[in-house]
Amino acid sequence: MIIAQISDTHIALGAPDADQRLADLDLTIAAINELAPLPDAIVHTGDIAHNGRHEEYALAAVALAKARTPVYVLAGNKDDRANLRAAFIRGGYLTPDFDFVQYAVDRYPVRLIALDTQSFGNKGGFCRRRIEHLTRLIQADTTRPIAVFTHHPPFLVTEGPDPFHFENRGAMSMLSNVLGRSRRVVAIFSGHVHRAASGDVDGIPAMVMTATATTLRHGQYPAALRSLPVYQVHRFDSCWGFATETRIASRGSAVRF
Ligand SMILES: [Fe+2]
Repeated sequence: MIIAQISDTHIALGAPDADQRLADLDLTIAAINELAPLPDAIVHTGDIAHNGRHEEYALAAVALAKARTPVYVLAGNKDDRANLRAAFIRGGYLTPDFDFVQYAVDRYPVRLIALDTQSFGNKGGFCRRRIEHLTRLIQADTTRPIAVFTHHPPFLVTEGPDPFHFENRGAMSMLSNVLGRSRRVVAIFSGHVHRAASGDVDGIPAMVMTATATTLRHGQYPAALRSLPVYQVHRFDSCWGFATETRIASRGSAVRF
């Protein structure tokens, strides 16, 4: 199974780099479309829109609809749950009976569980209701491995100004305990930090990918890469688990990989 991950597109209206952010998303989807084999799924780990506006989601939805493989979206701290839900409800995977953007995708050999770590401010949160919902999602299948996707990384990212991306340690450790106890979660993939990082959550390998929006990336990139977005490809092998590759999105990058 192959999953492409994109994140933090921050589609905005009126920002000085608004056109670039949209171009970065377009180019990334075009590059993923050229991969052979095509990934089984694309997961956007949140901060789809910068101001949570309908019009921003409309632009993002048009760009994501060009993907040749199913796309699943998460809510980041910049997203508006109601507007996000309205823009992507037709995908059929957003649970109508739960007000958080939290769901499982059961159509693949690896189950995908998308978590909603949105809270009131920039940092992440996780409450009892989401924990109970996550526990039910995990228990719904006892045979397949699970890849978990979050916007805020539930582990310390020691590069950057602040290693801690949750409001409080209690919420983060409550979440990591549930994930660790499951014994079925084999990887955790996140966004939010706008720079690449890796770590672990209760022994589970965990990674953060940088922002798809090139103007919002942190960290150092060679000059030739400055206007080229990157995305991640996570390949699952039943013996070895996930192997992750960071790929550069550019026109005409059609490759067997
Ligand atoms: Fe972001």
